Amino acid sequence: MIGKQEITANATDHELSEMRALIEERSGILLDQSRDRFFRPRVLEHMEARRLVHGAELLRLIRGSNVEYDRFLERLLTQETSFNRYPSMFQALEKRVLPEMRMKKFWESPRSLRIWSAGCSSGEEPYTIALTVADAFEFAEAWNVHILATDISRQALDVCERGLYPARELAGLTPKQRDAYFAMEGDRFKVKPKIKQMVTFAPLNLANAVYMGKFDVIFCMNVMIYFSDERRTQLIQRFFEYLEPGGYLFLGHAESVAKAGVGFEPIVVGDSLIYRKPDGGASHKPIPAGKERL
Ligand SMILES: C[S@@+](CC[C@H](N)C(=O)[O-])C[C@H]1O[C@@H](n2cnc3c(N)ncnc32)[C@H](O)[C@@H]1O
Repeated sequence: MIGKQEITANATDHELSEMRALIEERSGILLDQSRDRFFRPRVLEHMEARRLVHGAELLRLIRGSNVEYDRFLERLLTQETSFNRYPSMFQALEKRVLPEMRMKKFWESPRSLRIWSAGCSSGEEPYTIALTVADAFEFAEAWNVHILATDISRQALDVCERGLYPARELAGLTPKQRDAYFAMEGDRFKVKPKIKQMVTFAPLNLANAVYMGKFDVIFCMNVMIYFSDERRTQLIQRFFEYLEPGGYLFLGHAESVAKAGVGFEPIVVGDSLIYRKPDGGASHKPIPAGKERL
């Protein structure tokens, strides 16, 4: 590390591939040669910010300290997201999945719904899930709705926790949703407590297998595109195991369960493809007349 004067950082191809290998091993993220146009400048930017001249110094630093590794990784993560990013997916949740869950769980006491947003970035996805549930269940408070939102990035999770977003982030929501679920704070929008209380945030590296109980629905959108085929397969197999029978998996448009060899049923709803874990043809007692909207 050197002092105040201007520095020009340098990393050899070999050092860059060692950095890639370390990231693949620890975080499952595959930054192959095809992403070099993005990778090299971000590495050099990080080295200059940390006042490092040689790639070997950065390698020593990130191998020797988890804090330094995490800082480096933060610079490389792609965290693009927005509220209601894929409207047809949230329509599939509202029109197909939630009515099915309502039917399935109507006789349960307490009625609970567990949803996992895996790779939630700065919170727009889990909050969109929460407000879709609030829209779909007229008496959402009669349900125990728990949305677990996890990400490897602590910076992104800090934004989730604050729940405060500029107006442009909310462009995908209807004015009705914006008014019902957000309160103005200065020139920004704060997620209201009735939505926020449904969501819990936790740091989690999806490359590590951690069992957190069963879920009714798992969203893992635009995360696995950065994983190797092998990691992707392992993760899809774990999602299958973590879902309740009849549970649903939502993936990004460029992602699929095709190569994972698990028994998901592909379901097309409007323009969306979602995946259902078979439930062996379980049947559910009908909901009594007049109580359909609970
Ligand atoms: C492009 S964003 C997708 C956000 C959101 N799911 C969406 O589709 O709008 C990808 C997210 O995956 C997270 N991520 C990448 N690798 C991860 C890993 N190994 N474990 C957990 N999260 C990871 C990143 O930090 C980032 O927030």
